[in-house]
Parts: sequence; structure tokens; C-alpha cells
Amino acid sequence: MNLMKLIIGKPLGFCFGVKRAIDELERALDRYGEVYALGSPIHNEEEVKRLISMGLKLIEGVEELPENAVVFIRAHGTTPETFDMVCKKGCIVIDGTCPSVKNAQEKARLLSKEGYNVVVVGDPNHPEVRSIKGHALGEVSVVTSPEDVEGFPVKDKIGVVSQTTQEEGMLLSIVSALVPKARELRVYNTICKATLHRQETVRKLASETEGVIVIGGHNSTNTAKLVEVAKKAGCDVLWIAKPDEIDEDWLKNKSIIGIAAGASTPDWLINDVINLLSCR
Ligand code: F3S
Repeated sequence: MNLMKLIIGKPLGFCFGVKRAIDELERALDRYGEVYALGSPIHNEEEVKRLISMGLKLIEGVEELPENAVVFIRAHGTTPETFDMVCKKGCIVIDGTCPSVKNAQEKARLLSKEGYNVVVVGDPNHPEVRSIKGHALGEVSVVTSPEDVEGFPVKDKIGVVSQTTQEEGMLLSIVSALVPKARELRVYNTICKATLHRQETVRKLASETEGVIVIGGHNSTNTAKLVEVAKKAGCDVLWIAKPDEIDEDWLKNKSIIGIAAGASTPDWLINDVINLLSCR
């Protein structure tokens, strides 16, 4: 008999930006049969395998793109230079850039046009941060922690935008550290609502359960942030990408477990995990 109670967090799984992008990609695959994506369209290996079986081709750079191909721009967006190169190859572009990412890109551009030294709070190696950085016109720094700004010289104007999946507490700490570094500091909080809601969900689950399972790709930043939030809340957390990563030892002696999932985790994968746990 299964004595374990599951509390399913809400919202969980695909955010509106990922859902919109995947819907557009599926429509393009239906219509054209073969669609090229510059880098993984979503940070979830299981979902990518499903899309590859429908005709998706993964490439790393524009140089690998055949002339006149159909190309998908992922929710993280891309730089204006890459966009131009794709158009010059005569490609049909399916732009899956999330509107919240577009907003961060536009704010970075606006700040640089108005003479601010732009600071992007986020992971410098993440494709979304590269796309935001690419939209700024002047000097851009990418920072991940308050320590990163310690050596900054004092500037007249510093403008801040954030990676959309950033944790709010970290943005606040970095902004505080920047206060003595600028005569004028302008901050656009470009963390998206979907990210904030999922982080709130995890905090709530942490207070109501004996442990939280976070479902999402191990390469997914927004999932990593959920795990970080759960740990900060003092919660015992298990991060799994798929059902066979459920750890029996971790489950032992727990009677109430919370289920959360990253914004790039498909419903079918979440349901597989829930079904497996419910059948124990
Ligand atoms: Fe967009 Fe936020 Fe999702 S930026 S892709 S709605 S996590």
C-alpha cells in the first residue's frame, strides 16, 4: 500500500514562453518536415529526442545551415548578428524568442543607447545572456554575484537587466553592491513572472512537505534555480531529469513529498514521474 502523499506544485512545467516556442516548432515540423535549430531548442533532453524524431536537426553554428533551410530561433533568442546571417542564407525563420527575453534584449539596447554601461545579471555562458548582451550597443558586463562587481570603477551611469530566470534575491544583492559604483543606477527587473511563480511554488512546497522532487533537465538553468531556492528554504531536494532517476533511498521515511518542475519540463514527463510515484 502506498502511504506517501504527493503535493503537486502549481504552476509547474512549461511556461508560456516555452509552450509558445514548442507549439511554433511543431507547426513548422508538420509543415516543412525538416527544421534546423541553432543549439538545443529547449534544455530538456527527453523533449529534444521527441522533436528530433519529428524531423528537428540540431546544429551549433550558422555555417552548418544549408541555404534556404527552415530555421528555428529558440526561446532564449539570438544575437542580431546571427539573425542577419541566417536571413542572408535565404532561410525561412521561425522566431520562437520568448516575449520576456525580447523585453530584456530591448531594455539592454535602450540602456546602452541612453549612455548607460550595461550590466547583465546572469550566467555568461547561457545562450539567453549572450542574446541579451548582443542587443546592447556599448560596453556590457555580465555578473553572477556581488563579488563580481567589487573591482568595478565608479561610472556615471550603470544600467542593469537580468537573465529572465535569475533568482530575485541574487539580483537584489548585486544591485545593492552596484549602488556605490554609479552616480546614476537604473535597474530593469527583467526576471519573468513564470520564473518567480515557480520559485514561489517551490518555497511553499518546502514548507509543507518533507522533501521536494524537482523535475527538469540537468542543463536547465531555471530548474537549477528551483533546486537552489528549495535548498535555501532548508528543504531536502531531489533533482531528476526523468523517472528512472528517482532515488529509493531518498524516498525512504518520507510521507509527504512535493513535486515541482522547471519551465522547460514537458507535461508528459511530469505525468510519468507522478504515475510512477503513485503506483509504489
Ligand atoms: Fe520566457 Fe520566462 Fe519561460 S523568459 S521562456 S516565460 S521562463
